[in-house]
Amino acid sequence: MAQIKAPRGTQDLLPADSYKWKYVESTLMAIGESFGFKELRTPVFESTDLFERGVGDTTDVVQKEMYTFEDKGGRSITLRPEGTAGAVRAAVEHGLLNDALPLKLSYLTSCYRYEKPQAGRLREFHQFGVECLGTASPMADAQLILFASRIFDAFGVEGISLEINSIGCPKCRAEYHKALKAYFEAHIDSLCDTCKGRLEKNPMRILDCKNPECKKIAHGAPVILDYLCEDCKDHFEKVKDYLDIADIPYKINPRIVRGLDYYTKTVFEFVSDAIGAQGTVLGGGRYDGLVEELGGKSVPALGFAMGLERLMLLLEAGKFAFPAAATPDIYFCSIGENALKVALTLADELTADGFHAEIDILGRSLKAQMKYANKIGAKYTAVIGDDDIENGVLNIKNMETGETIQSDFLGFADTFENEYLAYIEKKEFSNYTDFGVEEDG
Ligand code: HAM
Repeated sequence: MAQIKAPRGTQDLLPADSYKWKYVESTLMAIGESFGFKELRTPVFESTDLFERGVGDTTDVVQKEMYTFEDKGGRSITLRPEGTAGAVRAAVEHGLLNDALPLKLSYLTSCYRYEKPQAGRLREFHQFGVECLGTASPMADAQLILFASRIFDAFGVEGISLEINSIGCPKCRAEYHKALKAYFEAHIDSLCDTCKGRLEKNPMRILDCKNPECKKIAHGAPVILDYLCEDCKDHFEKVKDYLDIADIPYKINPRIVRGLDYYTKTVFEFVSDAIGAQGTVLGGGRYDGLVEELGGKSVPALGFAMGLERLMLLLEAGKFAFPAAATPDIYFCSIGENALKVALTLADELTADGFHAEIDILGRSLKAQMKYANKIGAKYTAVIGDDDIENGVLNIKNMETGETIQSDFLGFADTFENEYLAYIEKKEFSNYTDFGVEEDG
């Protein structure tokens, strides 16, 4: 029968890599917690209206990239293309904004966009995102950017640059839209059909169209920074001031408009040139109108999301030293049926105590079991034969040192635990002293 392949633009995460992802994800969530963000989980699919209203019906994401379908009940459903709209919907729906503010939410989610796949651009991808709702202070913008930058520090990422911009508020945008319209009208014949449609409704969206001809024209367009109202200007100045105080280097890039409609005032991106054309690893900004747009009160908010596939590419490019994958604590080699039954019981006792214990479930020879135990990196082995069962005593071998200790069957779990903890402690101590010697030398 013909083999079935994973859909284009999706990736399987195999065991050889999944432990790295687990490490990265738990590190990200822990950094989030240290900044006060708590995890939120929302459904992978939402009502299509949520994204049409939240992300904006003139964006590339909504117009061209959404996975939308009718369910069996005739509802229009969309796989989430991003995490912010769902997070805001959940916050409004569950009255989370009635509690003490700011509300700080974090998430790890899969997202779906029908884009042309290439390195760092997938149709199913993953984001670590955070949303902070209930604050209009520019200090919140600066601290959020600082948080993002601390993530890269935590992974020792070098050569990543922070680009910031302000895209104003609906007040200053009215003037800007007029200027943009005038500019693009002069080039209307060269715009793609989607952008011709955007000219009336939302000319800012032409600025991030991926069509090469539109891109070329957009390059000469007026920039929003020249049109900011006093309030937006003041906000942006303060964000920059706080970033300077926090010693976070940034570049002002007046061409950043972001691809989603909800943004107001500060927007930012962390960009790397180490991972090819899709260099934006993290993007975010303020979205002061979104909560109200989605049926909540008028609550200012901001957030960011980081593409995990892009972060992994960056870590691989920088030869990041991931902690080693976990290996079994003990492998029970058994000779014969009776021994295998004993192995089953002992391993069960140890796994109940939180150890990773394995037994032979393939019916291999003793030699092959030993070879396998070595291959999977078991820290200890115990060989069980008929004699051992008769004597009621087992040898436990430390595979690194070759040392062996004895245990009776009844006290096996306790003996193993004591031996294991003593060994780990000794190892940690010797790592510590080795480190000291290296430092001194
Ligand atoms: P975004 O810029 O659309 O923003 O996506 C955030 C990040 O997700 C990007 O910087 C990139 O790393 C990753 N990403 C986006 N599309 C793809 C793709 N097709 N394949 C792989 N990675 C991708 C948002 O989604 C906003 N919700 C961020 C935000 C949160 N703003 C405020 N709060």
